[in-house]
Amino acid sequence: MLSYISAKEAAEKWNISQRRVAVLCSESRIDGAMMVGKMWIIPGNATKPEDKRAAKYETKQVQLKPFVKWAGGKSQLVEQIKQLFQQEGPGRLTKYAEPMVGGGALLFNILSLNIFEQVYICDINAELINAYNAVKYNADALIDKLNAMQLNFLPMDENGRKYYYYSIRDKFNNTLLNDDTCTDKAAYFIFLNKTCFNGLYRVNKKGQFNVPMGAYKTPCICDEDNLRAVSKALQNVTIVCGDYTQCRQFADSNTFVYIDPPYRPISQTSAFTAYNTDAFNDDEQIRLAAFFDELNGKGAKVVLSNSDPKNIDPDDNFFDNLYKNYTIERVSATRMINSKATRRGQINELLIHN
Ligand SMILES: C[S@@+](CC[C@H](N)C(=O)[O-])C[C@H]1O[C@@H](n2cnc3c(N)ncnc32)[C@H](O)[C@@H]1O
Repeated sequence: MLSYISAKEAAEKWNISQRRVAVLCSESRIDGAMMVGKMWIIPGNATKPEDKRAAKYETKQVQLKPFVKWAGGKSQLVEQIKQLFQQEGPGRLTKYAEPMVGGGALLFNILSLNIFEQVYICDINAELINAYNAVKYNADALIDKLNAMQLNFLPMDENGRKYYYYSIRDKFNNTLLNDDTCTDKAAYFIFLNKTCFNGLYRVNKKGQFNVPMGAYKTPCICDEDNLRAVSKALQNVTIVCGDYTQCRQFADSNTFVYIDPPYRPISQTSAFTAYNTDAFNDDEQIRLAAFFDELNGKGAKVVLSNSDPKNIDPDDNFFDNLYKNYTIERVSATRMINSKATRRGQINELLIHN
């Protein structure tokens, strides 16, 4: 006589989530599975269906996109920056390093092109780097969690959404990041990024994320296709959490290094460099310029972008002096995140390179 097991037992046997078993049953991918009441039961001798989700991405060439929105993302400069390494001619640059990667607007463009043999990324934001690692190593579990959050959140009315958003924000802030919590924390991090005001990442002095809920009608919390494609592309990427100087071990004369630091605060009160509790002030910019020199000395091709202080004060020559030995280009761009929507507009960005 045929014996049956529950979805929970099948999930344990096949080492997948119970939700995944339910999806497979509803897609008729498990012969003999039946719904009894509200539960699926599965023939005890059923075999685990092949995971077609992974196969789908082996053949499909996908244009990769950042999986989080990130303040200061330089998507508008991507084409100019790509020209800078294409000018170096084929064969010279085989390695790519982005030691302040943020959301990785350029990184994902570069990974889509698949032109570098080795890729290295780094950021000082531990929660962001944890999310990169979760996408790299635990994509299935992460996608299950994000899908579940999306299914909960989207049908809610505004009050329901607020309650849900702030409860996830509390969980994110009250859960210590460690091996047991890393996938949960990555899911909270991506959920908050997709549903918070302007996709900002801002923390208070205690390091707690304090951005209020945004007003998106149908935020895409789980872009499953992109997450899977990104996960595949990250398999060959070295991911490091720490100070940008850590990339000195990786960078050599065959390396293209792209550095996109936080904006230099225009005033003491400027809140938009507060990615971390430490603002990226002039001393930090000077330390970074010394690192630029070090990489230049190694023969790396180095490109650094920054907001042009001359947008505010035409006499501010801070970067012109700091990088006087290099080429400084001024490129027109639209600033994406500003405290006042009315102040969004065309400004110059600096592209500095050797
Ligand atoms: C302007 S954002 C980079 C944006 C990125 N280009 C993008 O496409 O989203 C600057 C990044 O530098 C990181 N950062 C700040 N100080 C750092 C440090 N000392 N070392 C490494 N990363 C740092 C921040 O966490 C932030 O993600």
